[in-house]
Amino acid sequence: MRFVLVLLLGVASVLCARLQGSQLNEGQVLTVAPRDSDRFDTKAVAAPRVFFDSRRVLWVMYYYGKSFKFIEKHPDVTPLPTGYVGLAESADGIAWRRLDGPGEGGSVLAPATKKGAWDSAHVGVGDVMLSDDGKSKYTMYYFGGSLNDGLPSPSNASNTICGFPLRIGVATSTDGLNWRRARKPLLELAPSEKGWSGEGWPQFVQLNETTSLLYYHSQANFSAPFVVTAAIHQGKRGKWKRLDYPLLGAGPEGTYYSRGVGTRWVVANPNYNASSPAANLSDAGRALTLSTSQWWMFGESVAPSPNEHTISLFGSRDGFSWGSLYTLPVLMPRIGVKGAADSRFVGTPNAVVRNEGKEVWLYYVAVRQGEAEDPFDVKETPFSIGLAICKIDGDKIDCERVPSPLVPQTE
Ligand SMILES: *[C@@H]1O[C@H](CO)[C@@H](O)[C@H](O)[C@H]1NC(C)=O
Ligand SMILES: *[C@@H]1O[C@H](CO)[C@@H](O)[C@H](O)[C@H]1NC(C)=O
Ligand SMILES: *[C@@H]1O[C@H](CO)[C@@H](O)[C@H](O)[C@H]1NC(C)=O
Ligand SMILES: *[C@@H]1O[C@H](CO)[C@@H](O)[C@H](O)[C@H]1NC(C)=O
Ligand SMILES: *[C@@H]1O[C@H](CO)[C@@H](O)[C@H](O)[C@H]1NC(C)=O
Repeated sequence: MRFVLVLLLGVASVLCARLQGSQLNEGQVLTVAPRDSDRFDTKAVAAPRVFFDSRRVLWVMYYYGKSFKFIEKHPDVTPLPTGYVGLAESADGIAWRRLDGPGEGGSVLAPATKKGAWDSAHVGVGDVMLSDDGKSKYTMYYFGGSLNDGLPSPSNASNTICGFPLRIGVATSTDGLNWRRARKPLLELAPSEKGWSGEGWPQFVQLNETTSLLYYHSQANFSAPFVVTAAIHQGKRGKWKRLDYPLLGAGPEGTYYSRGVGTRWVVANPNYNASSPAANLSDAGRALTLSTSQWWMFGESVAPSPNEHTISLFGSRDGFSWGSLYTLPVLMPRIGVKGAADSRFVGTPNAVVRNEGKEVWLYYVAVRQGEAEDPFDVKETPFSIGLAICKIDGDKIDCERVPSPLVPQTE
C-alpha cells in the first residue's frame, strides 16, 4: 500500500514538473540567443514575419532583435527590441533553426554604418516577400532611425531617446540573406508630423490588380494613442503616397484598444465569399463579422494596465475602413502567471493562413514580467517569439498557444 502511494506521488510530481515546464514555455518557438554568444539577438527577439519560401522550400521567419553588446555601445538608442534583422528557417513552422547572415552578429540587416544615415541607429523588419514573377527577388520593407535624431524621453524630458523619429525604407535581395538597401527612405515624414515619433512596422498588402497599401502606424508623441494608417500605390509606375487620414484610431474608453492599435498584420479572409448575400458591399450599415469581412487585421491593441498589450481582431470590407470584430482580444498576456513567457505583453502579430483557410497561425512576441517595472530593463531577458494556432469556424475564432518545442529554460 505504502509502495503504491509512493509510486503515485512519484508519478504526480513528474507530471507536475512536466506541466509546469510546458506551461512556462507554452507557445515559445524562438528565444534569445545565449548571452555569451556573438549573436545580434542575445537580449531580444521580436516581430516574427513568417512565410513559405518557395525558393528554399521551407518556412522562413524574419525577425528583429538586439544584443547586450549593442545596448552597452549605444545606451541612448531606443530601448525598443529593434536593432538588427535576422532569419530563421523551419520545415513545419514550429521548430526553428537560426541562420547566420553576413551582417554583424549573424544578422541579415544591421544599422547602416554611414555616418548620419537615416537608419544608422537601429533597424527592424516590417514585411518580407518573395516576388512570384520567377526572378527570385525578395523585398523587405523595414523601419529604422538615425543616430543623429532623437526625441525627449517621456519620463524625463532632459534625456534624449536616440533613433527617433522612425522612418520606413526598402531593401532587396536575390537570396534572402544578402540585402541591398535603397539609399533614401521610402516615405519621408509628412510636414504635419514634425515632432512625431515617426512611422514604422510597414506591411505590404495588394488589394487588387492595380492598388496596393503599405500599412504602418504612427504616434504623435510617446504618450499619444497609436494610429494605423497607410500609403497607397496605384498602377504599374507611380510612387507611394500617404493617405493622410487614420484607417484605425483609438477605441472607446474601456475597450482593449482605447490607446489605439500599433503593430498589426492584415490578411485576406481565406473563406470570404463575395457573392454571398452576407457580403453585400452596398449594405454598409450591417455590422462586420469574421466571415463577412474581406480583410482581417490582427492588431497589437493598447490599453491602460493590466492588459496593456493584447492582440485583437479587426475587420474590413475594403482594406481602408476598419471595425473591431470582438469585444475581447483573441490573445491575451498571462498576467500574474509567474514565469510565463508572456506574463506582461503580447504583441507584433503575424498571421499566416494555413490548412485550407481553417487555421491562422498567429506568431507574436511574448514579453515576460521582469523583476524591474520597466519591461525593457537591460538586466532582464524577457522577450521571446510565440505561436498560437487559431481555429476558424464560421464567425468563431479560437487561438491556442502551441506546446513549445524548446527545452524549458531555467528561471
Ligand atoms: C533627468 O535627467 C537629467 C539628465 O540625465 C538628470 O540630471 C535629472 O536628475 C533627471 N531628473 C529626474 C527627475 O530624474
Ligand atoms: C482597386 O481598389 C481601389 C481602392 O479600393 C479602387 O479604387 C479600384 O477601383 C480597384 N480596382 C479594381 C480593378 O478593382
Ligand atoms: C502628445 O499628443 C497628444 C495627442 O496628439 C497631445 O494631446 C499631447 O498634448 C501631446 N503631448 C506632448 C507632450 O506633446
Ligand atoms: C457563395 O455564396 C453564394 C450565394 O449565397 C452561393 O451560391 C455559393 O455556393 C457560395 N460559394 C461558396 C464557395 O461557398
Ligand atoms: C444588396 O443590398 C441592397 C440594399 O440593401 C439591395 O438592394 C440589393 O438587392 C442587395 N444585393 C444583393 C446581391 O444581395
